[in-house]
Amino acid sequence: MDEKVFVMNHPLIQHKLSIMRDKNTSVKDFRECAHEIGLLLGYEATKDLELEEFELETPITKMVGRRTKRKVALVPILRAGLGMVDALMDLIPAAKIGHIGLYRNEETLEPVEYYCKMPTDIAERQVLVLDPMLATGGSAIDAITMIKKRGAVRIKFVCIIAAPQGIEALRKAHPDVDIYCGAVDEKLNENGYIVPGLGDAGDRLFGTL
Ligand code: PRP
Ligand code: URA
Repeated sequence: MDEKVFVMNHPLIQHKLSIMRDKNTSVKDFRECAHEIGLLLGYEATKDLELEEFELETPITKMVGRRTKRKVALVPILRAGLGMVDALMDLIPAAKIGHIGLYRNEETLEPVEYYCKMPTDIAERQVLVLDPMLATGGSAIDAITMIKKRGAVRIKFVCIIAAPQGIEALRKAHPDVDIYCGAVDEKLNENGYIVPGLGDAGDRLFGTL
């Protein structure tokens, strides 16, 4: 794996991800685990946010404090990316939110776009694109192309599970985009689902199975 792909083999992620993978897990528990993994991935994906110094006064003395300098935009890919956005908003409450609507045509597996609305100052922001699943990579590639067309230049992609094919395709299409994921699974099946995976993330998050 190259240095632009960060796989977080954290024990808490592995524990929570195993709950998500279990087909008997309820919608409520699935959602809670997606949220909690989102927090852990968000921590890692923001580790190099730029800081600036400023003067403050504690009850004891003056000191130089630090605050994040670069503003952030979160861009969930609809629908399943919504399952991670609240976690990232907990970490970065001032983040602006863009939305991209994409779904995979079930036969061709090609992404079909239906919505795109970005913050107007997206070019100045660190953009975190959120989607639990990176399978063929088609959705992530198209989403990032759409975001770049609107001016974004600093983009990271954050997912819960990635397939090797998806990572390879995304790295090739957008080599400037770092990838943060909770696990890299074995492969895709003939229907483009990640194996072993967790099934259809959108359906499991929203109870539309
Ligand atoms: C899922 C998932 C990704 C996409 C990944 O969305 O949330 O967006 O598939 O597959 P890919 O890497 O092969 O493009 P889906 O198309 O099922 O839409 P949904 O979130 O609305 O259910
Ligand atoms: N989309 C999903 O929701 N799950 C997969 O395994 C692949 C694409």
